[in-house]
Amino acid sequence: MGRERRRLLVANWKMHFVRAQALEYLKVFTERVQGISNTEIVLAPPFTLLETVRREIQGTAIKLAAQDLFYERKGAFTGEISAIMLKDLGCAYVIVGHSERRRLFGETDELISKKLRAALDAEITPILCVGETLEERRAGRTQRVLETQIRGALAGLALSENLVIAYEPVWAIGTGVNAEPEEAEASALFIRELVAQLFDTEIAQKIRILYGGSVKPANFEGFVRQPNIDGALVGGASLDPEAFAQMVKIAECC
Ligand code: 13P
Repeated sequence: MGRERRRLLVANWKMHFVRAQALEYLKVFTERVQGISNTEIVLAPPFTLLETVRREIQGTAIKLAAQDLFYERKGAFTGEISAIMLKDLGCAYVIVGHSERRRLFGETDELISKKLRAALDAEITPILCVGETLEERRAGRTQRVLETQIRGALAGLALSENLVIAYEPVWAIGTGVNAEPEEAEASALFIRELVAQLFDTEIAQKIRILYGGSVKPANFEGFVRQPNIDGALVGGASLDPEAFAQMVKIAECC
C-alpha cells in the first residue's frame, strides 16, 4: 500500500488575493517548482482568479481547482457556479464540503453529495473535505463523524478512483495547532478502510487521501511520510509561494 499513489499538494487560497497579487505569486511559484515531476500540484484560487491563474499556468504541470460549485447544470441560481462552467475554465479539481462551507454556509452531507455527483458528471475530480470539531474529538467521536460525513457524501455515487478525500480536523484549521502525523494517519487509514467497505479495495487503494490543518514546511514531512497520507490541502501557508514551493519539494524528494 502506498507509494503507487502520486503525491498531491493543493493550495486552498480561500478568499485571498486580487489579480496583481496572484500574478506576483505565480511569477515566484512557477519558477520555484520547475522540474517537479513526481508530485501533482494544484492551485485553488477564488472564482475571480480562475481565469488569471489558468492563463499563467498554461504549459506547466500545475493544475487548477475551484473551491466550491453548485450542483445544478444551469438555470436561475443567482450567484452560483456550475461544474460545466468550471470545466470550461480548465478546472481539473474542485473542493467540496470544506468545513468553512459546512459551518458558515450550512452545507449538509446531502448537499455535498449532490455537489460531488455534479463534479463527477462533469469529469472534475472532487476533493471531499471531512473532519471532526474539537468537541467531537474530545467526546471520542472522530471516527463516527468521519463515517457519517463519508457515507452521507458518497451515498449512491458510482465511484472510480476519481476522488480525493481531505481529512481536515476542524480544530486544526487556521489555528496553528496541527494534528500529530500518527493521529492523522489513523484517520486516513480509517477513511481508506471505509471506502473499501463502501466500494471496493481497489478503489480504496487508488484514491488519494490528504491531510489539512495548519500544514507548513516545518511539519509537512511528518505527514507525507505516513503510508496512508498522500499529500496535503494547505490553507494559510499556501499563500506564501516560497513556503508552498518548499512543501512541493519535500513531497517530491521524501
Ligand atoms: P490552514 O492550512 O490555514 O490551517 O487551512 C487548512 C484548510 O482549511 C485547507 O483547506
